Amino acid sequence: MMHSLSTLTLLSAAGLATAASVFSLDNDAAIRNSAGQLAWDMLQYYHGNESGGTPGILPGPPPAGDYYWWEGGAMWGTLIDYWAWTGDSSYNDEIIQAMQFQVGEGQDYMPRNVTASLGNDDQAFWGMAAMSAAENKFPDPPSDRPGWLGLAQAVFNTQASPDRHDETCGGGLRWQIPFSNNGYGYKNSIANGCFFNMGARLFRYTDNETYSNWAEKTWDWVEKIGLIDAKTYAIYDGGNVEHDCKDINKVQYSYNNAIFAQGAAFMYNHTEDQKWKDRLDKLITYGLETFFPKDIATEISCEPGNGCKTDMFTYKGFVHRWYAQITQLAPFTAERILPVLKTSAQAAVSQCTGGDTGRACGLHWGDHKYDGKTGAGQEMSALAAVQSLLIGHAKPPTTSKTGGTSKGNPGGGSGDGKIEKEAKPVTTGDKVGASIVTILLLGLACGMFGWMSIELEGSS
Ligand SMILES: *[C@@H]1O[C@H](CO)[C@@H](O)[C@H](O)[C@H]1NC(C)=O
Ligand SMILES: *[C@@H]1O[C@H](CO)[C@@H](O)[C@H](O)[C@H]1NC(C)=O
Ligand SMILES: *[C@@H]1O[C@H](CO)[C@@H](O)[C@H](O)[C@H]1NC(C)=O
Ligand SMILES: *[C@@H]1O[C@H](CO)[C@@H](O)[C@H](O)[C@H]1NC(C)=O
Repeated sequence: MMHSLSTLTLLSAAGLATAASVFSLDNDAAIRNSAGQLAWDMLQYYHGNESGGTPGILPGPPPAGDYYWWEGGAMWGTLIDYWAWTGDSSYNDEIIQAMQFQVGEGQDYMPRNVTASLGNDDQAFWGMAAMSAAENKFPDPPSDRPGWLGLAQAVFNTQASPDRHDETCGGGLRWQIPFSNNGYGYKNSIANGCFFNMGARLFRYTDNETYSNWAEKTWDWVEKIGLIDAKTYAIYDGGNVEHDCKDINKVQYSYNNAIFAQGAAFMYNHTEDQKWKDRLDKLITYGLETFFPKDIATEISCEPGNGCKTDMFTYKGFVHRWYAQITQLAPFTAERILPVLKTSAQAAVSQCTGGDTGRACGLHWGDHKYDGKTGAGQEMSALAAVQSLLIGHAKPPTTSKTGGTSKGNPGGGSGDGKIEKEAKPVTTGDKVGASIVTILLLGLACGMFGWMSIELEGSS
């Protein structure tokens, strides 16, 4: 094997470093314990459930704190998979609280607080977390609250609406939603990848071809303008509408590969079409070669020069989760993917030896040595890598025909896809919704006074 020499070197390096790591991946019980510790460590960055905090979000946005709004959605999505794959329901109430608090006035994950700076990808990370909740049969919210499937449909509908799909560059979604934002003139892979991914998953769950038509159309457009290189299957970042998207920015992020690969796996699983099998196969072949040097997940565009920014600390975690799920939907990939995810997860925990706790994680997994910088994103990625090792025992994502019962709302989000200039007055419905969320929260071990004040702030 081509890799044998480097694998040997790696093993000895890992051996030295793991002496100091508290995380063991030796058996399923050890993996569950390690994941539990990492979930807890990640949530130390979250203060939204404390008195005066805003449920759902990590401290931010910059400069008020490190994290943008979308990262909260990514964190709940990670924890929904955590629950599904480990069986640990400790955080479920907190997840439901967070995911419901942020649904926004139109119940489509465009809460008024963030609409001024909202990207299609930001909104979709919450929508994809809701989709994971539906697919995994995560506990439903109370019946008068929007269901997980309905929330995912609402996000999808806002993005399928004509005002998000103009004719510049021959189609596709822009990165940002408000025209005044930096990035409104940019059409990129992550925005379109999220939309493709949600379309593929809604199609498999509901069997409604409106979704697969959009997924097909999005794939074709992304390939046509060269964001996916039709030969190598490299996925580039984006292009500017003022140049008809011919000025493709060729930087490659690992999550762009994984979001399309996971979507392709859903399309393949539901259609059994050879076309989707080939696309999936090429994406994972390219992804494993490019983003897993020495079989260890690496954010190649920024990690070597220490240039990764806060958002980028999370990408490898998505790759682990989505690649793990691909092995359920397209079992022919398991033989190639699973051993790599294992080596990569071992590397991830080998460097979780930092901070005051002696177990904080950095980003440079391949160094087997803590890199001196930790945060919610680094913890989230290490958690994702560890929990993904349990995929072999996990139930595959359900559909409405195989036990999925999440409440849908096929028309959700209609008419609310536009960013309004003026905030709507809070309706009685919003207030009732907010107090139901509050009541739900009383089940958590926390003071009523704290929650009441959150509700009052939320409705003001
Ligand atoms: C908030 O969540 C964290 C992490 O799950 C937990 O440790 C803490 O006890 C929670 N706080 C409250 C007030 O519920
Ligand atoms: C689709 O997913 C199911 C559930 O994991 C799996 O049993 C089935 O083999 C998959 N279909 C294909 C065509 O791989
Ligand atoms: C299929 O989805 C579209 C888009 O959300 C919706 O308008 C339509 O009513 C759905 N069809 C069925 C049969 O549910
Ligand atoms: C919007 O921001 C205000 C002020 O920080 C906060 O009280 C409220 O809870 C936020 N609403 C949401 C949905 O995050």
